[in-house]
Amino acid sequence: MNKVIIDCDPGIDDSLAIMLALNSPEIEVVGITIVAGNSPVELGFKNAKKVLSFLNRLDVPVYAGADRPRVRDYVNALDTHGEDGLGESFLPDIEGQEIPEKSAVSFMRETLKTGDVSVIALGPLTNLARLIDEDLDAFLSIKRLVSMGGNFRSHGNCSPVAEYNYWEDPDSARLVFDTLYEHQGRIEMVGLDVTREIVLTPDILQEMKRVNPKVGDFVEKITWFYFKFHWEWEHIRGCVINDPLAVAQFLNPAILNGFEAFTQVETGGISLGQTVVDSMGFYRKESNAIIYTDVDKTTFWEMFLTRILEIELAQCKEIFAKYIY
Ligand code: RIB
Ligand code: CA
Repeated sequence: MNKVIIDCDPGIDDSLAIMLALNSPEIEVVGITIVAGNSPVELGFKNAKKVLSFLNRLDVPVYAGADRPRVRDYVNALDTHGEDGLGESFLPDIEGQEIPEKSAVSFMRETLKTGDVSVIALGPLTNLARLIDEDLDAFLSIKRLVSMGGNFRSHGNCSPVAEYNYWEDPDSARLVFDTLYEHQGRIEMVGLDVTREIVLTPDILQEMKRVNPKVGDFVEKITWFYFKFHWEWEHIRGCVINDPLAVAQFLNPAILNGFEAFTQVETGGISLGQTVVDSMGFYRKESNAIIYTDVDKTTFWEMFLTRILEIELAQCKEIFAKYIY
């Protein structure tokens, strides 16, 4: 069984990623750690509880982590995720679910030490940077580190060159990538080059609602705001669901393809937050990252839809034939 910590900033697409992870028997989500990002950390904590309650999985522990980036001022993404951080679905808070004393980093330290736990990071890397500060051995014990963040050739979503998770806290992202370089580690970077290919469209959503009204209605509730945002900003009919692709890659490494390269995150100036990917080996430095550039969209959608809708593959092929094949 693959044990995983999901470090996230829910967040609409983070929530869809949690749904996929908790509907995947190959992994055991041993805990969810919250980081300030899309939502302030307290709101992200509440939103994680709302999703877990919907999934009837409040048994999964949730811990609150960093409430601000390492150096810069905190900039949330509530303009994209709605004032409640969950698409202005305004779902009721879950009673009796207080933030535990134990911090996200303390939970990471004690859990990662076993050496058989991976991390799927879906938000800024602030918690991981703090883990490096507090317990480098625990950080280096991470079995696999898959991060939704960054971009190679695709344009940024917070600046011409920067993606939100690494733009919001570039100093933490820099420390994580540099630490991996110094210790011959690897981060699997699921960036905008591949996540932009994963668009939840109105027609897929309609079929989701028809096939499994309970799940489909929940997904519509939390994504409708995101649809409007994508139309206003990028004239996309639908919404790019970045984070579930990182979970899918963890589950099935064949979904994405890419290459290894030395990569560093810019921490200042006009290109702040940019992932500088040395794809040509100019710096003659060992790789510290796997940069994904190609995605098998059909396999992703088959995995996502069969698991969160709880339908068979044959049913998926029949119902979604004209949308994902
Ligand atoms: O840039 C997209 C990423 O930033 C996603 O993880 C989204 O949830 C936000 O955290
Ligand atoms: Ca996220």
